[in-house]
Amino acid sequence: MLELDGAAAVVTGAARGIGLAVARTLAGQGARVTLLDRDAAALGAAALGPPHSTVALDVTDHPALRAAVAQGLAGADLPILVNNAALLNTEPLPDLDAATWRRVHEVNLDAAFVAVQAAAPVMRAAGGGRIVNVASVAGKVGGGLFGTSAYASAKAGLLALTKSAARELAQSAITVNAVAPGPVDTGLIASMPPEAAARVLAQVPLGRYGRPDEVAAAVCFLASREAAWITGEVLDVNGGLLMD
Ligand SMILES: NC(=O)c1ccc[n+]([C@@H]2O[C@H](COP(=O)([O-])OP(=O)(O)OC[C@H]3O[C@@H](n4cnc5c(N)ncnc54)[C@H](O)[C@@H]3O)[C@@H](O)[C@H]2O)c1
Repeated sequence: MLELDGAAAVVTGAARGIGLAVARTLAGQGARVTLLDRDAAALGAAALGPPHSTVALDVTDHPALRAAVAQGLAGADLPILVNNAALLNTEPLPDLDAATWRRVHEVNLDAAFVAVQAAAPVMRAAGGGRIVNVASVAGKVGGGLFGTSAYASAKAGLLALTKSAARELAQSAITVNAVAPGPVDTGLIASMPPEAAARVLAQVPLGRYGRPDEVAAAVCFLASREAAWITGEVLDVNGGLLMD
């Protein structure tokens, strides 16, 4: 059991799927959790009740995101930021328009940069903190199986941001790590073309999709006090899809 008493976590994209599982897992270990999502209705249904809270916002609204991160982490012994919100694109490269490319990067990468920047001073004042970025196997090997080049590019950027921030924030005892999930059974998988989903599944040695709580367990470990000497790491949670 990981000890998160006195911790406060902000989780983006927390209304469903992996983000909700992360929020529940962190709360279950004793952290106070702020769930952020742009889907206010789903967020209302996901609410964990006091002392936890929800904030309906779009992570591309930078002033709102900065304020919610700073407020959600204030006063914690161990502030935790989980950058999880993301959009998938499915257009093949020749059909991918610049606006979609830009939007996917704004949600999947730019928002993480803004949230990290907002979290850092609060974490520094607390004597340290944990940042966990939810990336993807696509950020390591590229997308392209079903037209996910913008998604993969943004996730690769997120992995580079993870390592850069890990180096720059280490002197403040702030660790920055990532998880790189393979295919996990959420709405995101349901939005994939079925033949593409079948092709992906055929490459998973463990022969099934992951569950959101299995990714959440890895995130929770990296967010814990016990993981204080791990930084700049990318933890694969992928059923063996990629072993590197
Ligand atoms: N499901 C998978 O197979 C899989 C695989 C690898 C990586 N991931 C990553 O895991 C994370 C969670 O994925 P998921 O499968 O749970 O996705 P999901 O689509 O089920 O949930 C994503 C959540 O993010 C929210 N969101 C999206 N854009 C937002 C925005 N602009 N502002 C605020 N909230 C926003 C959505 O409303 C939704 O609640 C993502 O970073 C995703 O890239 C998922």
